Amino acid sequence: MGVDIRVEGLTKSFGRQVIWENVSLTLPKGEISVLLGPSGTGKSVFLKHLVGLLRPDRGHVFIEGKDVPNVSERHLYEIRKMFGVLFQDGALFGSMTIYDNVAFPLREHTKKGESEIKRIVMEKLELTGLLGAETKLPGEISGGMRKRAGLARALVLDPQILLFDEPDSGLDPVRTAYLNQLIVDLNAQIEATMLIVTHDVNTARTVPDNIGLLYRRHLAMFGPREMLLSSQEPVVRQFLNARRQGPIGMAEEKDAAELEAEREEGEEIPPLPPIPPQIGPSSGQPRRTQRPAGQWLKENGVTPPPGSFTGEAGYGEAAAPTAPPATTQAATTERQGREREGGAVTLLSRPRRAATEDTEPAPTKRAPAKKTAAGKTTAKKTTAKKASPRKSSSSEGDS
Ligand SMILES: Nc1ncnc2c1ncn2[C@@H]1O[C@H](COP(=O)(O)OP(=O)(O)O)[C@@H](O)[C@H]1O
Ligand SMILES: [Mg+2]
Repeated sequence: MGVDIRVEGLTKSFGRQVIWENVSLTLPKGEISVLLGPSGTGKSVFLKHLVGLLRPDRGHVFIEGKDVPNVSERHLYEIRKMFGVLFQDGALFGSMTIYDNVAFPLREHTKKGESEIKRIVMEKLELTGLLGAETKLPGEISGGMRKRAGLARALVLDPQILLFDEPDSGLDPVRTAYLNQLIVDLNAQIEATMLIVTHDVNTARTVPDNIGLLYRRHLAMFGPREMLLSSQEPVVRQFLNARRQGPIGMAEEKDAAELEAEREEGEEIPPLPPIPPQIGPSSGQPRRTQRPAGQWLKENGVTPPPGSFTGEAGYGEAAAPTAPPATTQAATTERQGREREGGAVTLLSRPRRAATEDTEPAPTKRAPAKKTAAGKTTAKKTTAKKASPRKSSSSEGDS
């Protein structure tokens, strides 16, 4: 599952407003990428080009050999079916129940019968921790649940590509951490190529395999997470560390005088913080496409900032969000397991729970269930595992 998306020389303007020029990048098959950029730099516009909702002035978007801006209507329809898109607000129909919202694409785009539809809808609702919320209207559930309902709907056609437009906007940090874990678990399970547009620096630092940054009408940089997190490039550095010091100003870029003033005021750029460990699936096993910690750095002879990959980086333990009261025991076990095994999470007995407001942040309680060829769902046993190689050594990457 999952396909490469190759973007070449993509250029877009609206009238005389140039949005971005000459954007080229490849979203590798099955990997998670994050796209960052100041507000209004055209991130949403970029997503719309991938799906063929907007046409570029120039350039290409290749998916399985087809160039999205230049395919026939019929091919475009086929290509779109490969996508699941989670729009910023979940984009649910307000007068339809959660069940009907999630069933909608199946009723629109397939000839499946209602019993088959029910099976699929319930499976996706369980996956996103929404069992029990089927009969609710979008207005009756929390923002976090609406996002997950949007995600369930994006999943029903078994997409090979998943796009998320600011999935964390409007969510508190704990809900964001749960959503991030859900995204990582989903990637392990369905191996779709994923692109997440976000402003959340913590998400960008801990979730993806690759990071891109749109800035001043260009793609400033795109590459493996470790490349950007160890980059001294001023814009990348400023953005990924959420700093005031750097070329990006209040409105847009600072002028030379402002930068000079910053230097005179002794606003030295602080050293790079440690690179945090990348979040793995809650099963403790790395995702299929996940690279061992420090691999890019080693291959490129880059020494990471001191303290990297230990889980004690300045951005907290993003992989272990605070659990709701009912699962305090499990959370403690989880944390201890994490400490003992250098990061691998071993969850033995998180109870399966229905979705309610109180228990909302518990969508990823178990190891991702893998579909077998026979169509049976087999949950991976979450017995105590040896720490996965990518997280096994706290000094990895320093050596
Ligand atoms: N359909 C459109 N027609 C004209 N201008 C648009 C259209 N869609 C977006 N824009 C403009 O393109 C710029 C980038 O928008 P957007 O992609 O939404 O930014 P963001 O990075 O915040 O997602 C904005 O200035 C916006 O007003
Ligand atoms: Mg946007």
